[in-house]
Amino acid sequence: MSIEQRHDVLIIGSGAAGLGLALRLKQSLRVAVISKGALQEGNTYYAQGGISAVLSDEDSFDSHVEDTLIAGGGLCDEEVVRLVVEHGPANIHWLLNEGVAFTREGRNDPASDFHLTREGGHSHRRVVHAADATGKMLESTLESQARESSNIDIFEHHIAIDLITSSKRGGNKRVRGAYLLDRKNDRVVTFCARFVVLATGAANKVYLYTSNPDVATGDGIAMAWRAGCRVANMEFIQFHPTCLYHPQAKSYLISEALRGEGATLHLPDGHRFMPDFDERSELAPRDVVARTIDHEMKRIGADCVYLDISHKSREFITEHFPNIYRRCLDFGIDITSERIPVVPAAHYTCGGVITDHFARTDLAGLYAIGETTYTGLHGANRLASNSLLECLVFGEMAAEDIHSSLEQIIQPPEAKPWDESRVTDSDEQVVVSHNWEELRRFMWDYVGIVRSNKRLERAKRRVNLLRHEIEEYYSNFRVNNDLLELRNLVEVADLIIRSAQSRRESRGLHYTIDFPRSDSSQRKPTTLIPDNYYPIEE
Ligand code: FAD
Ligand code: SIN
Repeated sequence: MSIEQRHDVLIIGSGAAGLGLALRLKQSLRVAVISKGALQEGNTYYAQGGISAVLSDEDSFDSHVEDTLIAGGGLCDEEVVRLVVEHGPANIHWLLNEGVAFTREGRNDPASDFHLTREGGHSHRRVVHAADATGKMLESTLESQARESSNIDIFEHHIAIDLITSSKRGGNKRVRGAYLLDRKNDRVVTFCARFVVLATGAANKVYLYTSNPDVATGDGIAMAWRAGCRVANMEFIQFHPTCLYHPQAKSYLISEALRGEGATLHLPDGHRFMPDFDERSELAPRDVVARTIDHEMKRIGADCVYLDISHKSREFITEHFPNIYRRCLDFGIDITSERIPVVPAAHYTCGGVITDHFARTDLAGLYAIGETTYTGLHGANRLASNSLLECLVFGEMAAEDIHSSLEQIIQPPEAKPWDESRVTDSDEQVVVSHNWEELRRFMWDYVGIVRSNKRLERAKRRVNLLRHEIEEYYSNFRVNNDLLELRNLVEVADLIIRSAQSRRESRGLHYTIDFPRSDSSQRKPTTLIPDNYYPIEE
């Protein structure tokens, strides 16, 4: 028997973007919020450093805009940057109203006494935070608000398979909902909705080493692409310079805020190397620091480099970085007296589904928000702590647009139930686990921090083979979580490689030894257009 759910708004994703939007929608709208695993599991929960916003008298919108444009390597959309920056302070106050407790300076004025940290590329202290666990505070607060809202239905452990669209050809095509696999009951549910929002987060699990949790498999980007939406700037994957290097420390980030507070980077022999490469030293933008670490590790054959904050007092470290301190101690490293072994890892997907100022995609009724998008804010590199801000601002913009579009479609449309009459249970699940491994390893080796024509060609040949194998498997066997994620990862890997091949220069996060310099004639976003793309007809 086929199961159907009907809502006004279907939000796929429960991080800062998804929950932020859900809480801003009118109480009269019936809203479904979906998460692939437990509601909190996503990049938002693990955010450490904080959220950038102009909150001090010494700072200005112009300065935040300028820092973002510089980090973006000439590819940011300045109008979007200004829109996001200028909505920053109001969004921080919205979070305060929702109950998020940011770290304070201890002065008297509750509206302005935030403790602000500094991170790479920022010319001012402008990162508001909750100690070193900002994401946990934000996600838990928004979660409890959403659970208390009577118009929000939460569906955990449901993975979206694909979007459902109307069969109309051309620019009148509209989204009708999505098919979701209910993982606990192992059945596919058809969700019909007036509006659908992709808030599915990052694609960084496509790399062997990443700071991201397991859910970051680019599902929203792949689903939107298959439904006919354009994507942009997929070659710009940000590698965070400092993830803990320890055999048991799966993807644990050591926040950039440590470098903001004076931590320095050293080779195993103790030499502090960043000043040899960039006058901003450890506070150079992330692409510069990650590439320098990669270069130095390869040059001397080291497994890692070392981050040192031990010159600060024990009180300072344990007060500002209590979680990082405890986590490192669990692995036998006392950061108040010892250096921290670190390596770079894939951290942030700058590109994604193309959206406009109101988070609208190329498919009528479909919105995208958060890390799954390309809005124009980040350009060729993201400025630290600008992403949570982007999630919140575009959640606000999407809510505004949905509210003003309610008359376009007054009830959830009908959709065909999921058909699995022609598939059987898988006989060789090993195909999926083997291909997962292979994909993530060659993406790391050939499409990582330093690229070349040859490496990209090698990766392209392998991804073509995998695509073919996975599509065949998908058509013949009943779906499960790993198969769906792998199918999306392969799609996203292909988009990353094709974008990287088409950029014949080095810019921001895309560095290739065959074209080591920037070329002003290529100063534009990389846009990929699917075969089934039709511009929306007004
Ligand atoms: P996420 O929070 O990742 O949420 C994605 C949601 O989509 C999840 O609920 C997931 O279950 C759901 N989902 C995905 N696919 C499917 C599917 N197929 N079906 C159903 N549900 C699905 N940014 C900052 O600005 N400041 C920081 O200090 C900072 N620190 C960071 C530290 C770490 C370790 C990491 C990994 C990232 C950090 N970032 C930081 C980046 C920032 O956390 C993310 O960009 C942001 O949280 C993304 O939010 P989101 O809502 O778009 O996605
Ligand atoms: C960090 O705390 O270093 C992460 C900040 C970010 O990714 O914006």
